[in-house]
Amino acid sequence: MAFIEVIMFLMVQDPHSFANTHEISINHLDLDIRLNFETNQMNASVEFQLKVASEDIKQLVLDTRDLTIESVSDQTQQPLKFHLGDEKPFMGRPLIIELGDRTVDKVRIEYKTSPNAAAVQWLSAEQTASKKPFLFTQSQAILARTWIPCMDSPGAKVTYNAVVHVPKGFSAVMSARHGQHNRDEGVFRFVMEQPIPTYLVALAVGELEFKAISDRTGVYAEPSVVEAAASEFRDAESMLKASESLLGEYAWERWDILVLPPSFPYGGMENPRITFATPTVIAGDRSLVSLLAHELAHSWSGNLVTNATWDDFWLNEGFTTYIEQRIMEALYGKDMASMIRFLGQADLKRVAATLAPEDTRLKLNLKDRDPDDGMTDIAYEKGANFLRLIELTFGREAFDVYLRGYFERFKFKTLTTESFLEDIEVHLVKDQKEKWQTIDAKRWIYQAGIPASMVVAVSEKFNKRQADVKAFVNDATMPESKDWVTQEWLQFLNSLPHDLSTERAGQLQQHFALDQAGNAEVAFAWFMVAIRSHHSSSFDDLATFLKKFGRRKFLKPLYELMLTQPQTRELAKETYLQARAGYHSISQGTIDGLFQAANVSLD
Ligand code: BES
Ligand code: ZN
Repeated sequence: MAFIEVIMFLMVQDPHSFANTHEISINHLDLDIRLNFETNQMNASVEFQLKVASEDIKQLVLDTRDLTIESVSDQTQQPLKFHLGDEKPFMGRPLIIELGDRTVDKVRIEYKTSPNAAAVQWLSAEQTASKKPFLFTQSQAILARTWIPCMDSPGAKVTYNAVVHVPKGFSAVMSARHGQHNRDEGVFRFVMEQPIPTYLVALAVGELEFKAISDRTGVYAEPSVVEAAASEFRDAESMLKASESLLGEYAWERWDILVLPPSFPYGGMENPRITFATPTVIAGDRSLVSLLAHELAHSWSGNLVTNATWDDFWLNEGFTTYIEQRIMEALYGKDMASMIRFLGQADLKRVAATLAPEDTRLKLNLKDRDPDDGMTDIAYEKGANFLRLIELTFGREAFDVYLRGYFERFKFKTLTTESFLEDIEVHLVKDQKEKWQTIDAKRWIYQAGIPASMVVAVSEKFNKRQADVKAFVNDATMPESKDWVTQEWLQFLNSLPHDLSTERAGQLQQHFALDQAGNAEVAFAWFMVAIRSHHSSSFDDLATFLKKFGRRKFLKPLYELMLTQPQTRELAKETYLQARAGYHSISQGTIDGLFQAANVSLD
C-alpha cells in the first residue's frame, strides 16, 4: 500500500459525512465569496487540489446542504459531470463529481447559498447596535456544508485562503490571518496556514471596530460595544500566558475576540485566532470570563487536537472544560475554580436526569442522529470530572506533563476515544496499573450515568449560600449579599426550592431588583425562579429578555419551563411568535421542537 493509502485506511469513517475521505484527500480550500445583503445569499466558488489514493477512484463525494451548485470544472477549466444525491435530514445531500478517465488534480465549484443556510445568520439593520446589516457563520457541528461544499468531517483538516467581497463600509473577519484588504473596494483577504477542520472555518461581516488588548489579543465589535468589550476582556493576555504555561506554546499567533449581536446562538465559539462570543458575556465586572477561558482552552483541545467524530465530542468539550477550570484557578484562585466545578456538577446532575441513559455515556453513538443531540453537559461536565479524577489520582504534576505531551503528540490531528485510552496508558499510567484500575475508565466512558467515584466539588462560600437559602425560605431573612460574586448569586438562586411561594419571590425582587439584573446569567437564573413561583410581575421583563437574546442556553430552559405551566404557556407562545424571526436557525430548531413536544401549535 502506498503511504497515502495507509493514512486513509487508518482514518475513521465519520457517520455524519458523505465524503469519500478514505479515497481522496483535500488539504486546502481556496474560497471566493461575494455577499448579497439584498437576497441574503453568497455567490461563491471553492477550488481545491485533490490527492487520489488510487487510479480506480472515479468519483469525488462532498457534503452539501441547501446549496445550488452552478458548475464544476477541473484544472483545465473543462466541466466535470456532477449530481446531487438524495437529501437526508440534517445531513444534506452528497455532491457526487465524476472524475472520468482524466487525471483530475484540481476541482473548482461555483455555487450559491440559500437565504436559509443553517450556518449563516443574516441580520437586518434593526437587529444590530450599529443599525447596519450583519452576517455571521456558525458551522459546528455539521453546518459548514450549508455555505461551502466540502468534506465536512473533523478528520478532513484543511488550510484555506479566502477572498470576501462585501458592500462599502463593511468589514470582514475570518478564522484566519488578515491578508491584503482593499477597504475602498470592499475586498478582504484571509490566509489560514494551519490545518483546521471545516467546522472551524468562520466568517463575520458588519460594521466592526477593533481595539487591541495586548500585542497579540484584541476585540472586534460593533463600534458602540467595543470599549465595554475591551474592558471586560482585559485579562485576555494573562489568560493566554496561563494557558501556555499549562499546555505549551499557543499555536495560532493571535487571539482576538469578536463580540456578536445578541442573537448569537451560543455563549462562545472557538473559531481559531478569533473566538466568537455572545454579548451576554459582558457583565461589567469580568464575572463571566470563564467563557473566554473555555474558548481559549479550545485552541489546544478541539482546534489543535480534534475529536475524530462527533461520537468523541467529549474529547473536545471535556478537556476544554477541565482546562477552563485550571485557567480560572491560575487567574482567580482556588475558590473560584471550586465554585465553577460545583455549578458544573449541579448542571451535570440536572441534565443526566433528563437524558436517555445511552446519551449519558462519554462515548456517544450518534449514527443516524443529528450530532446536536449529543451536545449536552455530559461531554462537558462528565468529561471534565473524569479528567479531574485522573488528575487527583496521579497527581497534578504528572497529569500536567501528560497533558502537554498529549497536545504535542496529536497536534493538527484527530483522535478517537479509543486512541486516547491507549495513549494515556502508555504515557501516564505506565506501571501504575492499580491506580488506573481504581478510576475504572471504561465505566466512565462506555457506561451510563455519573460514576460514584466522581470527586464532589466543595465550596465554603456555597455552603454559606445554602444556609442563606434556608433562612430566607423559613422566615424571609434577606441574605447579606453585598460581597457576593456572580457564582454565589447563581448558587443562591439555583438552590431555591422549586415550590418557592409567589410571595417569597416577590420579596426577592423587591429587595434585589433581579428583573433588571445587568448580568445575563443572573437574570436567567432569576427568571427561572420567577416562572416557577408564578411571579407574574416579572413576566414583562422576562419577555424582553427572550426577545433580546438568542443564546440557546438561556432560551431553551426558559421556554421549556414556561410551556410546562398553564400560567405561562400563552406567554411563551406569544413571545416566541414575536422573537422567532430574530433567532439563529440553531435556536429556532431547538425551540420549535419544544413547542412541538408540548403540543402547542405556532399558528
Ligand atoms: N464549541 C462550543 C459550542 C458548540 C458546541 C457549537 C457544539 C456547536 C456545537 C463552545 O466551545 C461552547 O462550549 N460554548 C458554550 C460556552 C462554554 C463556556 C460552556 C456555550 O455556548 O454555551
Ligand atoms: Zn466548548
